[in-house]
Amino acid sequence: MSMAKLTLNGEEYEFPVVVGTENETGIDFSTLRARTGAIALDPGYGNTGSCLSTITFIDGEKGILRYRGYPIEEIAESASFEEVCYLLIYGHLPTDDELAGFVRELRLHTMIREEMKDFFKDFPMTAHPMMVLSAMLASLSAYYPSGSDDEEVDLNIIRLLAKAETIAAFSYKKSVGQPWVYPRNDLSYTENFLRMMFAVPAEPYVVSPVQARALNLLLMLHADHEQNCSTSTVRMVGSSQANLFAAIAAGVYALWGPLHGGANQKVIEMLRMIRADGGDYGKYVAMAKDKDSPFRLMGFGHRVYKNFDPRARILKKAADEVLGDLGVEDPLLEIAKNLERVALEDEFFVERKLYPNVDFYSGILYRAMGIPSNMFTVMFALGRLPGWISQWKEMREDPKAKIARPRQIYLGERTRPFAPRAARQAEPAPELTSA
Ligand code: CMC
Repeated sequence: MSMAKLTLNGEEYEFPVVVGTENETGIDFSTLRARTGAIALDPGYGNTGSCLSTITFIDGEKGILRYRGYPIEEIAESASFEEVCYLLIYGHLPTDDELAGFVRELRLHTMIREEMKDFFKDFPMTAHPMMVLSAMLASLSAYYPSGSDDEEVDLNIIRLLAKAETIAAFSYKKSVGQPWVYPRNDLSYTENFLRMMFAVPAEPYVVSPVQARALNLLLMLHADHEQNCSTSTVRMVGSSQANLFAAIAAGVYALWGPLHGGANQKVIEMLRMIRADGGDYGKYVAMAKDKDSPFRLMGFGHRVYKNFDPRARILKKAADEVLGDLGVEDPLLEIAKNLERVALEDEFFVERKLYPNVDFYSGILYRAMGIPSNMFTVMFALGRLPGWISQWKEMREDPKAKIARPRQIYLGERTRPFAPRAARQAEPAPELTSA
């Protein structure tokens, strides 16, 4: 085993070097504090490995993404979302029997308890569907055991995957004031979801195969992305042995932010803004470069990818195909492509290796399918569920897993005597000024 040397206060220490199957190198600092008294300071965790994992591999410099060793481009060609769920959660591609059993289980558990429908009623119509999704997923823990053994955990995994799409569709129906459409267990995951979203009771509805295929692709591309903000949140919450529903509900909230999954909604809002402003994308590129402006090009840049995000490449191609197949012309697609072209030629973006990420083109596809922009991040969450679940399961099964508890370097006041309130009041109060 090779070792890394650290010199601190004149003392020399050695730490083991850990090398992954793709030659990623880490220094195992797990004994750093115990041996040296110092901690590793890394705000934003850009250099910190929080776990050993066998689920997803990313090479951000080369633009590579693989689930359990399978390249995302090959998965995108021919897999189904259900297969990808199985692959991520159980570690291998399912046999025909395994897949049939898994799909049957999923279809059996799509209904939510009737009384849970009352929870939806009390949210205002304007409630963001991400808030509703997270609250409803957390509420599942009121109905199902927290999962103390493997059998219970496996069942909760199925419940979560199956019920999440019903909850997501119901949250949309609530936001547009339409009656719920119940799940049907003869349909695939994507067909069922589209029907629950767009069918109206007592009216015929046929799921568009083009839409179902596009949704299948979108969900698969979002299925896992190793230790990002929401996945780390799921692991962080799960590390205290909180139940699966609670950990995933927390992940949904972490995903909601505009720097993470919430970027897909912000991209479309940005493209709409550019269009309403006469389509001058150059002006927005200039604004994104201006250090005095808080504006960023949404859907651009990534903590890990310093090259094209392979998911964005696939989605850009799919956007042309799906819009063509659906006969949709979207002026925002043209603006997006122009914006990408201008940014990719601009020194600011080139120097910082800022490329379009998965969120840049996904919204265009969702729009073409009739999914409103406030549901985009919910779609991301549905896709990410198998990733969150597999990461949570990996941590649960790791005998060396510990509660997550980072440290800090304290920069506050040194010890000072506490003056009782009466003594503090004896001092003249600062003068109050009204605004
Ligand atoms: N527009 C303009 N400048 C940018 C952008 C952008 N979208 N992204 C990064 N930069 C600049 C940033 O100002 C900084 O410049 P400087 O070095 O001069 O200070 C440099 O690039 C590095 O940025 P950073 O914020 O230090 O990088 P990060 O790794 O902390 O942030 C990010 C990554 C994704 C939060 C960021 O690129 C960003 O805010 N992008 C827009 C939001 C977005 O699209 N998020 C979705 C990410 S992909 C989906 C997911 O998995 O969540």
